[in-house]
Amino acid sequence: MIGQGLNRVDGPRKVTGRATYAYEYWDAGQPLYGVIVGAAIGKGRITRIDTENAEQAPGVRMVMTHHNAPEQGPRDESIPFEYWRAQPVLTGPDVHYHGEPVAFAVAETFEQARAAAALVEVEYAEGRGHFDFAAHEGDAYAPKKVNAGIATDTAVGSFDAAFHTADVQVDQSYTTPYEFSMPMEPHACLVVPRGEDLYVHVSCQIVDAAQASVAATLRTDPARIHIVSPYVGGGFGSKLGIHAETILAALAARALREPVKVALTRQQMFQLVGMRPTSRQRVRLGAGHDGQLTALAHDVTAHTNRDVEFAEQTAATTRSLYAAPHRLTSHRLTPLDLPRGSDVRAPGEAPGLLAVESAMDEMADALGMDPVELRLRNEPAVDPERDVPYSDRHLIDCLREGARRFGWENRPATPASVRDGRWLVGYGMSAAIRGHFQGPTAVRVRWETDGTAVVESDMTDIGTGTYTVLTQVAADGLGLPPDRVRIELGRSEHPTSWGSGGSWGAANSCTAVHRACATLRERVLTAVHADTRSPLHGRNSSHALFSDGHVHIGDASEALSEILTRMPPEDLEAEGETRFMGDDSNYADYSINTYGAHFAEVGVDADTAEIRLRRMLGVFSVGQVLNAKTARSQLIGGMIWGAGAALEEEAVVDLRSGAFINRDLAQYLVPVHADIPDIDAIILDGYDDKANPLGAKGVGELGICGAGASVANAVFNATGTRIRDFPITIEKLL
Ligand code: MOS
Repeated sequence: MIGQGLNRVDGPRKVTGRATYAYEYWDAGQPLYGVIVGAAIGKGRITRIDTENAEQAPGVRMVMTHHNAPEQGPRDESIPFEYWRAQPVLTGPDVHYHGEPVAFAVAETFEQARAAAALVEVEYAEGRGHFDFAAHEGDAYAPKKVNAGIATDTAVGSFDAAFHTADVQVDQSYTTPYEFSMPMEPHACLVVPRGEDLYVHVSCQIVDAAQASVAATLRTDPARIHIVSPYVGGGFGSKLGIHAETILAALAARALREPVKVALTRQQMFQLVGMRPTSRQRVRLGAGHDGQLTALAHDVTAHTNRDVEFAEQTAATTRSLYAAPHRLTSHRLTPLDLPRGSDVRAPGEAPGLLAVESAMDEMADALGMDPVELRLRNEPAVDPERDVPYSDRHLIDCLREGARRFGWENRPATPASVRDGRWLVGYGMSAAIRGHFQGPTAVRVRWETDGTAVVESDMTDIGTGTYTVLTQVAADGLGLPPDRVRIELGRSEHPTSWGSGGSWGAANSCTAVHRACATLRERVLTAVHADTRSPLHGRNSSHALFSDGHVHIGDASEALSEILTRMPPEDLEAEGETRFMGDDSNYADYSINTYGAHFAEVGVDADTAEIRLRRMLGVFSVGQVLNAKTARSQLIGGMIWGAGAALEEEAVVDLRSGAFINRDLAQYLVPVHADIPDIDAIILDGYDDKANPLGAKGVGELGICGAGASVANAVFNATGTRIRDFPITIEKLL
């Protein structure tokens, strides 16, 4: 079962509307609706806020502002991860960014709530905000750590001396814009009070974090907060934590003793749920004429919100990518009065590899060397900064297999040398690398007496295929057909997981299921061995086979549904778990990563500079694949996002107000089908025995890693023009 491209087991529920999303529950009766009023300035103070007209409008039940909002728990920086901290809102008159919630209107219908929100009168004393990243880069400071607890700076050897004496040098800066996770399902919740308890139906990636965060903000016992999140319409990092809509709905539901639901508008998602910070990245590469890198530096400056620090780990994977004896990486933050930065798919690697893999292309060009060959010559024997072996590194296999399948030998050796009618044609490639993470995750697997297995965890399926891969691993582990496995996810009453994020969800939860199934198999075998009523009694169970709902030993077999009726109830369920990577010696002793190679072909109109992607191919190494179909879908989705990062995505700040000008999907461009003509993702067979007993590693975020650079490098190969300010739009290329 493991690895097969099983169709999504939740697919029929989704396409027939039986999969219930956070906003869609009606079992608690008619809810109230909440609408958030956002600040109309980017920096300053509320001097007057008048809610009288709003409160008297039809159907209105409550208007909350900083004057009457309940006291909330403060953000506690001693809690190691932001997503488990309190997220207080409406805490005072100060405005920290454009669109920050200043009021919350609750009414009997959505239309009444929206009308009331429009009647809230706010006056401000506008301050002088810092909105311009380039103008304030000089204010940058070094954060203590970057995201995920990673070191801010690293240095190995003597970079300066090695760089200055290198035969060939590349020293370039690249800029990347503000980018947003824009899951199809907006951030939404329905909070239902029952007695002292709140049932929070919320679209989230990590149920445990949502529970902790709501409880800390409301200053209540986490046991009183019940998170329900069985279906999530995408997250991409923006639902790792909960946001203002959930806190406000919970505060109002608690105060009014009635269900309250809130969904953010698409425009509010550009203000309230975090974004990928803008960055300027300087990459310096020094190499000998033979293409061996001697010096490699990656220095990053990014924006942070003043109030809530977020340092994207943009240079982190550069530390493990190529051999070079002399190396530097650094991260600096420029505080701005803009919404907070946050995790957006492949935080760090996505913008970081865009820069580093563009610089590698510049180095190949300067050396007159094939870009694939340049990467092959800089393959490290051990992780060059951690000085530990790689667990299972197949970057070279990805490069060679990709080059062969793509027909890389047909690449125009000279930029701007191949024309196809109006189109200048170019090929580009890039390497991909991403760290693999393991977190604490528990699942429970229990038999029902008819031989059906039920898997329970607070793990989420954010569209990635969790239901399906867990079904496969449980079916494999217990010898059941997949339709005899039921998966129950997304409830805080279930065993606690690290949820979906960082591409760790599938490997963590599947490993935990794998372990629980091993425990259950052992129990069954012990029971039949001792049980004189079983045809398997006394047989040597080391040759036992679980298949088709039966246990077979030699020529004897018995149905699980028979065996289970004779077992004590406490033996019918088992928990399995994975540990935090910091407590697992393999993660200290090995550099555990996933790898890939991207190849792209573009056509650039010789007159208008219109860029059309012609082909994209990615070849990836992720250890054991859990489901060939869902894994490929994840990788292709990432590659498309990478193409968007190269060519389209950019949120633009109005430097007067600090507002994002293009805050909707009409003006914030993402690729559509017509932009992506021919794309494929190939996954190499693999198994990483250092990662976990399934040999499986993260998939979701690898696809975007490096994908944009392959497109950018193809644009250079087509035109001979290098654009270092992403996205590469027509006016920059002309
Ligand atoms: Mo991912 S950006 O950790 O959901």
